[in-house]
Parts: sequence; C-alpha cells; structure tokens
Amino acid sequence: MAERRGRFITLEGGEGAGKSTQAARLCAWLSELGHETVQTREPGGTPGAEEIRSLLTTGAADRWTPESEALLLYAARADHVARLIRPALERRAWVVCDRFADSTRAYQGAGHGMARETLDALHRAALGDFEPDLTLILDLPPEEGLKRAAARGGEARFESLPADFHARLRQGFLDIATAAPDRCAVIDASGDADAVADAVQAIVKARLTPG
Ligand code: TMP
Repeated sequence: MAERRGRFITLEGGEGAGKSTQAARLCAWLSELGHETVQTREPGGTPGAEEIRSLLTTGAADRWTPESEALLLYAARADHVARLIRPALERRAWVVCDRFADSTRAYQGAGHGMARETLDALHRAALGDFEPDLTLILDLPPEEGLKRAAARGGEARFESLPADFHARLRQGFLDIATAAPDRCAVIDASGDADAVADAVQAIVKARLTPG
C-alpha cells in the first residue's frame, strides 16, 4: 500500500549536542535513499516563527518569564506545524526538525519549573495530539556541550543560564525518553560526528524502515 504521509523526526538535546550537524547528515542520507526531505528548526522554520525566534534567543536571560517563553514558543510552533510541517508530511516528505515540543518540556518544564500538565494543555490547544514519529535525544554532559556551544558563538541567551539549569535540562530529556520509549531514543553524543551519524541512521532504519 502507498504511504499516506511522510515521517516527522525530531532531534533534541542540550546546548552544543550537535543537533544541526546531525539534522543535515540525516537529511542527506534520507535524500540518497530517494525521499523528499525537509530540514527545519525550532523556534523558527517559517518567516513568522523566525521572528519569534529572535525575540527568544537574544537579550538578557531574564528577558521573559518561563510562561511567556512557552506561549511564544507555541505561537511559533503552531505556525511552523500548520504552514511547513503538516503540508510537507501530506506530500510524503520526511521532515527533520532541530528541536520541537520536547525542548519546551525540558527547558521551560524541567529547567524553569513549569508544570508538565500546563505544557500538555498548551500543546493540545495549539497542536491537538500532533507529535513526532521519532525523537532522537542527543545526550552529552552539559559542561562538554556548553564548551562546544561557546566555541561556535552566536545566540547565547539560553547558554548563559546557570550550571544547575543545564543539569536539570539533561535529566529532563532523559525522563522524557523514559516516559515515551516508543517515540524516543537516547544517543550518546560525546563521540565524533561520524559515530553519532551512524547511531542516528541505525535507529532510523530500525524504527522507521526508510528503505
Ligand atoms: P538552538 O540553540 O538549539 O537553535 O535553540 C535555541 C534556543 O531556544 C536553545 O537555547 C533552547 C531554546 N528553546 C527553548 O527553551 N524551548 C523550546 O521549546 C525550544 C524549541 C528552544
């Protein structure tokens, strides 16, 4: 039977885990297998959501309350899903997204203390039961990730949060994977980019049989 829709894969993790590198490599591999691929990111991915991204990623660490952040993130996400992700899935593309709702659960939830029920209610209001088909969590000790992120430079608002925030964040992602094992897989991101790309491909092959 012909596939009715494409697949939605998200890459998650703390700062400097190598998500964007791995998103590009995963898309290149899926394209070689003959799939239309769409590489995108959050916050962002559409013109409106990219404008919201610049509000979120620049300025002082206390520029927004966690609640305002979550609302901005879901405003961006609703636009991104409606205008880019759903239409791509409907034409059977494979969509690879650098961060998605698990980042809100980990950053605004585990990191900043927002209740999971509040974030779940926001998710339902914005997106119903829409979730990725597969979520790859790139796991790395925060010290190592922050070192890599600092070397890369750029948008630093979230990187400037204290060490205990980044420790809660890492645990938050691991707890998400434990609670949703059918959707999530944790990948050790401390190796080099080739080793991580091999691990990513092995999991995508096993879970989604891309061909
Ligand atoms: P990036 O550095 O991975 O591109 O992500 C931008 C920043 O936005 C990153 O520091 C994490 C933060 N963020 C959240 O706090 N919650 C979210 O839901 C998302 C998508 C990103």
